[in-house]
Amino acid sequence: MAPLDALLGWDEDTTAEAYAAFTRDFPMYAATSRDLARRAELTDGRLVVDLCGGAGATAEAILELVPIDAQVVSLDAAAAMQRVGRRTLADPRLTWVTAPAEDLADHVPGAADAVVCNSAIWKTDVPRVFAAVHQVLRPGGRFVFNVGGGFAGIRHPDETSLRTGPSLNTLIRQVAARDYGYAPPPPAVEAAPKLSVDTIAEHLSVAGLTVLDTEVVAQHSTMAEKKAWLSIPVFARPDGEFTHAQRTDILDKAYSLTTPDAPTVTSWLVVVAQRPREQR
Ligand SMILES: C[S@@+](CC[C@H](N)C(=O)[O-])C[C@H]1O[C@@H](n2cnc3c(N)ncnc32)[C@H](O)[C@@H]1O
Repeated sequence: MAPLDALLGWDEDTTAEAYAAFTRDFPMYAATSRDLARRAELTDGRLVVDLCGGAGATAEAILELVPIDAQVVSLDAAAAMQRVGRRTLADPRLTWVTAPAEDLADHVPGAADAVVCNSAIWKTDVPRVFAAVHQVLRPGGRFVFNVGGGFAGIRHPDETSLRTGPSLNTLIRQVAARDYGYAPPPPAVEAAPKLSVDTIAEHLSVAGLTVLDTEVVAQHSTMAEKKAWLSIPVFARPDGEFTHAQRTDILDKAYSLTTPDAPTVTSWLVVVAQRPREQR
């Protein structure tokens, strides 16, 4: 079974439609997906898995790189996300599978050349998913994924150097505290990374996968993009007992304190792993 938080919110049509609209209007998911697909070295790929593929932003990036007779399997547990993907991304090479990432090995027919997972791995049962990835990859096949900076406990230097004022998240907390009596969680709880680079390396090693590369990358965008992202119901803040209307009110007030064009930076830890080639 997928962990409890895996599907919270994702299998909702409102979230799926808002997410897909965001990926159309703003570059974040297309850009991070293209970066991962490039690192997966897909030009000779016959079978590639888009793990936790959602509405297909990552599948689209994979399809740009694989040969015309390749097969791409986009697996996600949220049927609502895939309904949008099926409607908007038609490619005969692409198959949609609605299933938890933890059950990947039950759904992939042969030895995959690569597994790509954009912006999702920390939502899964990581040791089980890494074991399943090892099972489906051919020897030498790549597993490429990223982890949001907050979850990995890393921060690209641009996040600090390019900052022109308080972040939208900070302003959201301030407005929520002022207007709704919001009390943020204690800093120690927030600071503990869910999936640090050391934890990832350990889980990969236990699964029999080798780390080829790790890199901290910066995704540059604007306050306007950040606001649009925080408008997607599943990402709306702050946590706690707020209605969506209250969160929207808090976001609007916080955003009014910013400049739409102000630069914002999102940090990502990118990991390229591999199933070791067989020894002769
Ligand atoms: C932020 S979206 C990323 C989708 C896509 N990779 C992209 O870049 O647009 C995260 C996706 O992970 C999926 N997800 C989270 N946990 C999952 C799990 N354990 N098994 C399968 N899908 C999962 C959600 O349903 C959601 O569609």
